[in-house]
This record gives sequence, structure tokens and C-alpha cells, in this order.
Amino acid sequence: MAVTAQTTKLDARKLRADFPIFEQTFHGKPLAFLDSAASSQKPRQMLDAMREFYETSYANVHRGVYQLAERATAALEGSREKVRELLNAPAAREVIFVRNATEGLNLVAYAWGLNNLGPGDIVLVTELEHHSNWVPWQYMAKKTGAEFRMLPLDEHGELDLGALDEAADGGNVKVVATGLVSNSLGTINPVEKLVAWAHERGAIFVCDAAQAAPHMTVDVQALGCDFLAISGHKMCGPSGIGAVWGRAELLERMEPFLLGGHMIRSVRFEGTTWGELPHKFEAGTAPMAEAVGFAAAIDYLHGIGFDAISAHEHELVSYALDRLAEVPGLTTYGPPADRRAGIVSFNFDDIHPHDVAQILDLEGVAIRAGHHCCQPLMQKLGVAATNRASFYLYTLPEEIDQLVDGLHKVKKVFA
Ligand SMILES: Cc1ncc(COP(=O)(O)O)c(C=O)c1O
Repeated sequence: MAVTAQTTKLDARKLRADFPIFEQTFHGKPLAFLDSAASSQKPRQMLDAMREFYETSYANVHRGVYQLAERATAALEGSREKVRELLNAPAAREVIFVRNATEGLNLVAYAWGLNNLGPGDIVLVTELEHHSNWVPWQYMAKKTGAEFRMLPLDEHGELDLGALDEAADGGNVKVVATGLVSNSLGTINPVEKLVAWAHERGAIFVCDAAQAAPHMTVDVQALGCDFLAISGHKMCGPSGIGAVWGRAELLERMEPFLLGGHMIRSVRFEGTTWGELPHKFEAGTAPMAEAVGFAAAIDYLHGIGFDAISAHEHELVSYALDRLAEVPGLTTYGPPADRRAGIVSFNFDDIHPHDVAQILDLEGVAIRAGHHCCQPLMQKLGVAATNRASFYLYTLPEEIDQLVDGLHKVKKVFA
């Protein structure tokens, strides 16, 4: 393993050796992968853990009484404990494995929302939300007769906390659902303050930590939230697994989300009763190998240290904002470097973001172009789309230079 425990400053160049993807070139150029906010690359340690599980410990979990099945079950439950530890959750039974953060947020919106929302209630999201934490709540509000409201952004791309009381006016706020880190602007939201405000009104707080958990310590007890969702694939884990954490007392009172095998206590013609937590919310065969990979990814990140990862990304985003400011015709969005994670959204003259991204691809630079699942935010910015560069523990400053050089080429093409 190329990582030493708890380094204060990480060595991104050394860490890159753990990621086989960087052994290739694209269009004859080294890969400047600046799209980690969409999904991160994978270290060998995680890939090896999954292969080893398949080769030595694979069987269906929970139902088998033979040694191999017990081994697989122990691996799955060990992974759950890893996620509990990652989030500092009080109990492993409060950690539910799902496919991704989107499924986790849908689980909460359906399984909590359907029986707890109604006319006169307010569901509050923010103008910065990813669609995964917007659409399920908008839909659930419509289905239950609750009112769907939005906390606006200020001109820096940060939440306008002064508008909170207006957002609550004349109704009963039942849910506040916000992200911890914006996937478009990188804004780090003041979740503790929002949680306190929500709880003062008797509302629950649902935190979308999909974009935070890969980069910083996320502690559900320190945040004080009631539910929190993450995706494994954004944090060096495999695709197809995420987790949603919820307070046991809320999860216990909720109806299940998906129905079928494994989540039951008893099934009779007269009716079915539900299993204990977390099984009540984990219908069907579990994503066992994915959970093992997720746990290995968490070990990998802990080996580097979240403080070192955050500090590295902070340096990169400061550097990127400085370098991008040198490019004439380029507009960046979002707060200053000290109040954002490693994400920069920008537009370049009136060149369509897809054209910018395609020309950059020829230079070996991979960035995202589009609305980033944040159409309400795009509407606020008055644009249909942006380009987005995002950084992670393996990102080098040279990749930002490669981006800036590529942008000068884009300019020449469109001159
Ligand atoms: C802030 C945020 N929330 C939710 C999601 C959804 O994650 P997933 O697609 O893994 O469900 C993303 C993915 O980009 C995100 O950035």
C-alpha cells in the first residue's frame, strides 16, 4: 500500500500509483481526470478486496448455515460496522445498505414522507440541491398534499439563511433536506445551523452527504441530523453501493421501502410483518461484494486521513481559482476557496460547455459539462449548463495546468 497512516500532508503523486486507471493515455496524452465529483477512480486495495471476497468468501448472506455463508455474512456485517464508524453513527443497525445516495434519499422520502406528511406541512429544500435530494421531496409533497418550498441562494452561491423564517411562514415545517457539499459549486453548507433551525420547529433534517463524505469527516452525531445518505462510488468504492443512516427511533416507526425476501419477520396469507433493523429496509440479496469493496475504500481513505484529503483539495481549489482567473472570458461560479470543496464550475465566453469539454478531451482533460443534476441552480445562474472541474486525493496541480492550457486551445478553435 502506498499510503502511510494519518499523514498530515498527502502525496498525491505517490497515491496515484494505487490507481491503475492512470497507467493509460487518452488521445496520446496523460489523463487529467477532473471529474471525481461524478465518480471517483478506484485504488487497487479496493479492487483486490472485492476479488478476494469473490475468490474466498462468496456465498449468499444471512440465509446459509454453512461456514462459507457465515464468512460472507461476517464480511457484509463487518462492512456495515465500517460505515457506522465512518459516520460515527450510534449503532450499526441504523446503517442501511442501498444502491447509492439517490436510493437512500428516496427511501427516506417514501418510507418517512408517505406517513408523516400532509396538507399544511412544509417540505423545505434548497436552490442548491442535487435532483436526488429535490425530486423525491417535490414528488412526496405533491403526493401527500404538503407544500414544497425552496431556500434561495445569495449572490455568492451560498444559502441565504436570512430567508429561512420566510420559508417557514404560515405552515408547519416537517422536513428540511439539504446537501452538506454542493456538487455544482462546491459550497459547504452550514448544516449544523440548519439542523438546529429544523429541530426548533419540530422538523426532521435529511442530509445528502454524497459529495461531502469522500472529502471530509462526516459525523452524524456532530451534525445532529436525522437521516444522511452517501454513495460508495464517489469515495473510491465500487458502483452499486451506498448507505443511508437514520435514527433508530425514526427507522423503527417507518414502513419498509422495498418489499420481498429478507426484510420480513413472518409472511402469512393474512399479512406480513417486518424484520428488525436494518433488515426491514434491505429487501433481496445484499450487495455483498460491493459492501466489502466499500469497506476497503473506507480503510483506504482512513489510511490517508480525511484532514489530509480536505487540505489537499483546498490547496487545489485555491490554485484552480487563481489559474482560471488568468483565462480571459472565463466566468467561475460559487463561493471563495476557503468556503468550498474541490469543485469549480465555470463558463467560457459563449462557447457551449459540451464543446469546451469535447475539445479538452482531445487534450487528455476529462471534465463534466451539463446541468450536473442541478437544474434549479442553473436557472438561478441564468445558464443552461456549466463546465465543472472537480478534484480528489489523486489530483495533481499539473492537471489543473493541463486544463488551463486546454482552455487556451479551446479559445483558438473558436477564435
Ligand atoms: C450532492 C449529490 N447528491 C446526490 C448525488 C447522487 O448520487 P448517486 O448518483 O450516487 O445516487 C450526487 C451525485 O452526483 C451528488 O453530487
